[in-house]
Amino acid sequence: MTLSLLAMIKKIFSEEISVERTLVLVKPDGVQRGLIGEVIARFERRGLRLVAAKFMQVSQSLAEAHYAEHKGKVFYDGLISYITSAPVMAMVWEANNAVAAVRQTVGSTKPAESAPGTIRHDFGLEVGRNLIHASDKPETGEREVALWFKKEELVDWARDIDKWVFEK
Ligand code: RTP
Ligand code: MG
Repeated sequence: MTLSLLAMIKKIFSEEISVERTLVLVKPDGVQRGLIGEVIARFERRGLRLVAAKFMQVSQSLAEAHYAEHKGKVFYDGLISYITSAPVMAMVWEANNAVAAVRQTVGSTKPAESAPGTIRHDFGLEVGRNLIHASDKPETGEREVALWFKKEELVDWARDIDKWVFEK
């Protein structure tokens, strides 16, 4: 196989049928407000496939590793105490181009700027209580899934309805 053909195949796969996994957290405010079911329902309804889920208390070290990119920012300390303040529901969802699809359903970082119909718009008002986390890029998704879940906690499965959700 020539190099250009290989590159072409890679391109087709990365742009058109890139199966991605993304980390979703229902943050402490979402859990306390009884919104776990609402969040799960939205992703299920959209067609994403659940790969893993666990209800857990976030440790200081996990919070710091997860939010390492924000260290030094003005909101960092508040962010760490927010995410460690009460349990979260951590999940991995999978689909073709899952990262962008999930971010779209979640809405923009500030609930006041999120589009109507998104989770952050429909249930939130303030950036420091924005209910949910979702990986921001496919590479971030891979890193975050590996940070939050052991390999054996990720379930590799197919659904009977997959052919009605995914074209390929
Ligand atoms: P997330 O990581 O939680 O999915 O949110 P995001 O990508 O939309 O936002 P990001 O920039 O990664 O920020 C992470 C979380 O930090 C809090 N934040 N507060 N006070 C502020 O200006 C501010 N900016 C960000 C939010 O909880 C945000 O989700
Ligand atoms: Mg982020």
